[in-house]
Amino acid sequence: MPKDSVLVLDFGGQYSHLITRRMRQLKVYSELIPFDTPLVKIRSIVPKGIILSGGPASVYDKGAPMPDAGIFALGIPVLGICYGLQLIAKVLGGVVAKASKREYGKTVVELDNSSLLFEGLLKKTVCWMSHSDHITHLPLGFRSVAHTGNSENAAIENSKRALYGLQFHPEVTHTPKGMTILENFALKICGCTPSWTMMSFVDQAVHEIRAKVKGEKVVCALSGGVDSTVTALLVDRAIGRNLTCVFVDHGLLRKSEATKVLRILRDSFKLKLIQVDASDRFLRRLKGVADPEEKRRVIGEEFIKVFSEETKKLGAFKWLAQGTLYPDVIESAATAGKASRIKTHHNVAGLPSWMKFQLLEPLRFLYKDEVREVAAIIGLPGEIVNRHPFPGPGLAVRILGEITSDKLYICREASAIVEEELRKIKIYGKAWQAFAMVGDDKAVGVMGDERCSGHIVTVRVVESTDGMTADWMRLPPQLLERISTRITNEIRGVTWVTYAITSKPPSTIEPC
Ligand code: XMP
Repeated sequence: MPKDSVLVLDFGGQYSHLITRRMRQLKVYSELIPFDTPLVKIRSIVPKGIILSGGPASVYDKGAPMPDAGIFALGIPVLGICYGLQLIAKVLGGVVAKASKREYGKTVVELDNSSLLFEGLLKKTVCWMSHSDHITHLPLGFRSVAHTGNSENAAIENSKRALYGLQFHPEVTHTPKGMTILENFALKICGCTPSWTMMSFVDQAVHEIRAKVKGEKVVCALSGGVDSTVTALLVDRAIGRNLTCVFVDHGLLRKSEATKVLRILRDSFKLKLIQVDASDRFLRRLKGVADPEEKRRVIGEEFIKVFSEETKKLGAFKWLAQGTLYPDVIESAATAGKASRIKTHHNVAGLPSWMKFQLLEPLRFLYKDEVREVAAIIGLPGEIVNRHPFPGPGLAVRILGEITSDKLYICREASAIVEEELRKIKIYGKAWQAFAMVGDDKAVGVMGDERCSGHIVTVRVVESTDGMTADWMRLPPQLLERISTRITNEIRGVTWVTYAITSKPPSTIEPC
């Protein structure tokens, strides 16, 4: 854990994870933790400040989420945002009530610049509001430091106790000066040194891995993607020859997946690497499995079985290193246990209970763009650094329904065409992910002079910064046409090509 950190207590707001992102952009380490994290745990982290996120509840509701009130007596600065502000007011003796008018959207706010929170800002600024409750009576020792046409207490402070609250959301881009406010809080009020850089992360991760693992042996699940590759290289830096990497080909990889990556890791980085072709075994186990969550479970379980068998042959291993990232942890609801589980990412919540390894996940608190920065720092070539993310269960989550050899062939070949065409016009790097999916739906086509029936392939290309939200990419029509023509011409059994134009939410990136 870096020396200076700001904890964000998650009350279920849709922007909660954005607050941690903003802190990290300010080079201050930040973690999102459940709102009811026990005080002893918070104290043990020794944060320099705490932020209380927004959330959908009302503080006066029965069963409204409440933190341990001891956080206000830790003597460290606290900033409440929206629900967090109302919570500070309620817990410390103020009154919160339903406002007569809901305040939503871009709003002009008038600031009291004598507050340290607003140093360097003009008197009037635009902010993003989204609330229907407001403070009617301030708690003792607090003063209002901002107001809008609708809210008398758009920001409050008790500077003596370093307690602050904002009714609006500084973390969203619709509050243009929000970063300055968060910077004032983190650097000026909490006194954090902006020292969280990916360079410092590398040193710290290597140190922590070494301290944790000591002289024991580690096996790393290498997939060829940037996350597991970076994981392997960090562990290699920390413990060298005590690391063995195992690459399992589950038969659901992208076309020519990993061969290049594995060569680089063997030749340039001299990693101890074992390659296992388990494709027959995985595909046999997946026969008849159509449910996406069941596919994930089967793949996760089989993965660990293969690992156990392979590593048993090599001697005793205590640790399993894998490239789990922060969004995987959040989306598998393994953090707060409050967010609803969206998908069981096979490498987080899908591990079988009999698994004997202890987990080593050095990237568990990083976002993808941070991992890419680490990858560049440790010397990985651009083509690995910028490779699109690929889910652990591979093409299994891009094939709707049962996995058959026909559908696997179509999905793999069509995805390769999509990637190739994006690369040709140099927009591969702009996309977060680009692939093709296929299901059992068929449509009529004409091939030669014959009427025939074939699969419908759907192309999905999305832009995103961290995979948590995504938007479909507005591709040029000529490119879509080329992709469609190539897929129907080059892949047997495809008669139609469609393009997915839903964002996340409401869709997810992968179709299952
Ligand atoms: P969704 O489909 O949930 O995907 O919008 C968000 C990001 O996570 C990847 N993903 C997975 N990664 N195991 C993984 O390791 C999985 O089961 C899994 N499902 C989705 C997805 O590719 C995207 O980048």
